[in-house]
Amino acid sequence: MELLLLVALVLLVVYLYVEDLRLRRKYPPGPRAWPIVGNLRDLARGPHRVFAEWRLKYGDIFTVWLGSRPAVVLNGQDAVKEALQKHGDIFSSRPDLFLWGRTIRTKGKGIATAPYGPEWKETRKVALTWLNTFGAGKQSLEPTIVQEAQDLVQVFKDKRGQPFDPTLSLGLAVSNVICSVVFGRRFNHDDERFSHLMELNSRYFRAYASAQVLNVYPKLRYVPSVRRNLEEVVTCSEEIRSFVIEVIQEHRETFDPNNIRDVIDGFLLEEHRGNRILSELPGDNVINVIKNLFTAGTDTTATTLRWALLYLVKNPDVQRKVQDEIDVRLGKQTRVSILLREHLPYTEATIREAQRIRTISPSSVPHETTAPTTILGHQIPSGTFIVPNLWSLHMDPKYWPDPERFDPTRFLDADGQLAPRTESFLPFSTGPRKCLGEQLAKYELFLFFTSLLQQFTFKMPEGALTPDTEGIVGQVFSPRPFEICVIPRI
Ligand code: HEM
Repeated sequence: MELLLLVALVLLVVYLYVEDLRLRRKYPPGPRAWPIVGNLRDLARGPHRVFAEWRLKYGDIFTVWLGSRPAVVLNGQDAVKEALQKHGDIFSSRPDLFLWGRTIRTKGKGIATAPYGPEWKETRKVALTWLNTFGAGKQSLEPTIVQEAQDLVQVFKDKRGQPFDPTLSLGLAVSNVICSVVFGRRFNHDDERFSHLMELNSRYFRAYASAQVLNVYPKLRYVPSVRRNLEEVVTCSEEIRSFVIEVIQEHRETFDPNNIRDVIDGFLLEEHRGNRILSELPGDNVINVIKNLFTAGTDTTATTLRWALLYLVKNPDVQRKVQDEIDVRLGKQTRVSILLREHLPYTEATIREAQRIRTISPSSVPHETTAPTTILGHQIPSGTFIVPNLWSLHMDPKYWPDPERFDPTRFLDADGQLAPRTESFLPFSTGPRKCLGEQLAKYELFLFFTSLLQQFTFKMPEGALTPDTEGIVGQVFSPRPFEICVIPRI
């Protein structure tokens, strides 16, 4: 009897081993994974850095195991472009993640987390149409952005050279742009409700980073410390949601199809016209779209500006060159305009270099395949979790020698003009899922950055240690909090 049991046990172990081997063979090879935890222990060191080591060993496409879930990591521009651009119809879905299920509750999944298909396509198309109508990424929005930049300049002036953390003011200023386009209104920097909303947004992103383990092991929600993180994610998400619901309700009450005021009205108009696809989706779809635009439109651009300021205080020579260029082309009084972008190549190159050296979305947003396919000789099954490793493009020594060196001239040609084409640089990703706010973000980055550098010199507080650039891995890859002094130039 005992012998039979032993034989059964051995057979079971062999069966599990063979099954495991069979499963692993379906995916591109990668680092050795441990039972239950997979590669999570290594990834805790910061996925983008660990991926860089594994790329050297396993090539541009490898599999990592998130617990028992395989994830195929695409590294370098060839693999990323081949998958997301050339096979965009197969690589553009999103996985079903536990945390998304907890924060987005219905079939109407908005844009960023929605699976690929006609509903996502239509929702994205409508959002883009109305974002464009209200000037996102167009010159007609310039006065709004410039006004926000000028208000920010005043807020910075009021600090009177004293050290402060610029995170909140930058967040408020940037968020006001997306609020103007989407909600049709802006908020004063001292508006308590708005500051609370900003805080909720940052708390959401922070807690999401700590609760991510639940996407791999949902059962961990019964562990008190993990549960607390989950509760924080849900609380912040629900509070932002309540705010969005309130604003949409206000819009419904005052809606006039002949006077479309903003993106929310645009969606209500689609409803009013009986848009076939959108009207079949639950009302939650619009709530999720607006929530997506608000959250994606704030922390991303504001964090990029914070990285740029951090690299400027660490590289005063670059800061001086940007200011010199602005002084020559613009002077200290002329209003900044997007039309000046081509006349300020070094300034624009500095923004791009900040986006390269510290990609705020190093592993992009996860994708999922919808059919089996082959990429650069690797077979990838349908339903595979895909990680487009954007960091690997921006740190690729083949295109960016000495990649940790901050050097805006990488983006310039021999005549000091912006190089017409840039290889291995995709901060907004690529393919059908690429960032919906790319044009808007580019306008904002240029107008805010140039307005600030026209007026101020940024320095570390006297005696303070220059902060490192290691960053904090979260939903958005951000610098560790730091204080700066802002010295008026006039
Ligand atoms: C510097 C600023 C920004 C950066 C670097 C950035 C980057 C990204 C990246 C890497 C993605 C994932 C693309 C993919 O899955 O392949 C994304 C998606 C997205 N972004 Fe941005 N973004 C920025 C600003 C904005 C702004 C201002 C908006 C507001 C309109 C926005 C709205 C979105 C939306 C809605 C998606 C989801 C698209 C979809 O799933 O179809 N982003 N962004």
